[in-house]
Amino acid sequence: MTRASSMFDLISDQGEERPYFETGGIGRSHGFYTGEEQYRREMSRIYGRRWLPVDHVSRLKDKGAYTTLNIGTGSVLIIHGDDGIQAYHNYCRHRGYKLVEEAAGKRQSLVCLYHCWVYDRNGKLKSLNGTYFDHFFEKEKNGLLPVRTEIRFGVVFIALSDDAPDLDASLGEFGEFARVYELADLECAEAKDYPVASNWKLVAHNVNESLHFPTAHKDLHRITDFDDAGTYDLKGDIVGAWQGIRNAYNSVSMTGRSGRTPMELVPEADRQKINWITILPNLLFGFTADYVMMQWVWPESPGTCFVRHFWLFHPSETAKSDFSHEAVFALWDKANYEDWEMCERTHRGLSNPLWTPGQLSLDEEVVSQIDSWVVAETADAQSPDTAEAGPVTNGANGANGAGTSETGKAAE
Ligand code: FES
Ligand SMILES: [Fe+2]
Repeated sequence: MTRASSMFDLISDQGEERPYFETGGIGRSHGFYTGEEQYRREMSRIYGRRWLPVDHVSRLKDKGAYTTLNIGTGSVLIIHGDDGIQAYHNYCRHRGYKLVEEAAGKRQSLVCLYHCWVYDRNGKLKSLNGTYFDHFFEKEKNGLLPVRTEIRFGVVFIALSDDAPDLDASLGEFGEFARVYELADLECAEAKDYPVASNWKLVAHNVNESLHFPTAHKDLHRITDFDDAGTYDLKGDIVGAWQGIRNAYNSVSMTGRSGRTPMELVPEADRQKINWITILPNLLFGFTADYVMMQWVWPESPGTCFVRHFWLFHPSETAKSDFSHEAVFALWDKANYEDWEMCERTHRGLSNPLWTPGQLSLDEEVVSQIDSWVVAETADAQSPDTAEAGPVTNGANGANGAGTSETGKAAE
């Protein structure tokens, strides 16, 4: 068990010579945020290719527990079968009916409501329920199509391609945060989906900067200290920042106070902090000493996305008879709606083809890092965003991490 006085003792040396601090950053073009072509590139080169974090194991504990997730025009089903958690393409192999519409549930078999093919929790086709070609049918060739699945630190990852970059290298130093905040052992107390009428990157920007807290979130601003904040320089395809919690409070919630015991491994200097860490492209963690939130943004079209938000607590707290996450949920649920208004209105502003990007401040390094990373993943020689990449910061620096401190398996 490693103890440290702060997360800075556990992660790499922080670069003092970061180019962003010399120049700040700039935004990108109208087409980068709203265009069909850029969206297609992101779907094929990022969402269609890379390892994507899709869920937390605490939501899939029981055999037969499942969740579903729409990614662009596709959908995946993640289910706990006899050999552990496994993802499948969420459509019936017969004629393509979308098998499960619900976001989460528990079933021991999956019945297609079109012609009644039945699959078990391991994706195997069990029954054709009397469809006429039963006598010559090869059931074993008509099971659900599996999607590559891995688990790290309690997070379920999937890859829709065979050439995804190495997952552990991409996660870089994320493992230190996951270990300290006991991510693999936490319990999901609540999950909620939010539709947002904006490009997914605008949500990723929004949830990664606190510059807007004083104007947009009066409850959050009362608890967290806008002036006590900074950006991490992390190894891996991750970006991160931290922000202080004001001394009068001990929890980022509507009341600002909680009787929950701080998680044991969280260093003393981080108990009055939120550590914001994003696994690129789309999963933000807010790590605090008494709970962890995870917020995903999933693209649906160039101008629409949805956010799936989880609130996770230590099992020693959720087991208590008086456990309540009401004050935490109330704060973030309100802040979320405030944020989506910001994102949707920004999308409407950027939809003007005459949008000309302005300068980003020193408090928006993560915004610049996210865009730089997306540009690096999607641009080619002909792309206008290659030319206008602007100051590319360090931090979102590709798969150069030193691996992680533990490794899980898809089969638990
Ligand atoms: S499409 Fe599912 S049984 Fe026909
Ligand atoms: Fe916000």
